[in-house]
Amino acid sequence: MGIYLFSLFGLLCVKGHSLGLDSNKIGQCTYKGQVYNDGEIIPSDPCQPRKCISGYVPLAFVDCINPQCVDFVIKSGECCATCPTGMNCRLPNGTLMPGKEIRIMPDGKTCRCVHTFGFGKEPHNPDALCTFLDRQISM
Ligand SMILES: *[C@@H]1O[C@H](CO)[C@@H](O)[C@H](O)[C@H]1NC(C)=O
Repeated sequence: MGIYLFSLFGLLCVKGHSLGLDSNKIGQCTYKGQVYNDGEIIPSDPCQPRKCISGYVPLAFVDCINPQCVDFVIKSGECCATCPTGMNCRLPNGTLMPGKEIRIMPDGKTCRCVHTFGFGKEPHNPDALCTFLDRQISM
C-alpha cells in the first residue's frame, strides 16, 4: 500500500514537470534499456528498491528486522518477513507456542521463546529454550 501511494506521488511529480518545463526529458533515467521519468518507481527486487531521482538511479538496500515467529511469511512485493499469527517459537515436540507463554514439557523442562532483535529475514531463535527450572536458578 505504501509503495502504491508513493508511485502515485511520483506520477504527480512527473505531471508537474511537464506542465512547468518545455522538455519533459529533464531528470529522466535510463535503467536496463528502459526510460523512466523523474520520481518514477522502477520495478525491481523489493529488497533493493529503485527510483529515478533527477537522472540517477541510486542503489538502496532494505534492512529487515528478523521476524519473531517460526511461521513467518514474506508477502509478494515486500522485502521483510511478517508474523501473521504473532510472535511464537517451536517447542521440542514441534508445536508452535505463542511468544509470551511458558510451557512445562512432559520431561519436566520449562520452555519459553527467546526473542532477540537484529537484522535478517528469518527468526534468530526459532526453537524454544527449554531448561530444568531448578538448574536454571542454581546457575
Ligand atoms: C507439545 O507440547 C505442548 C506442551 O506440553 C502441548 O501443549 C502440545 O499439545 C504438544 N503437542 C504435541 C503434538 O504433542
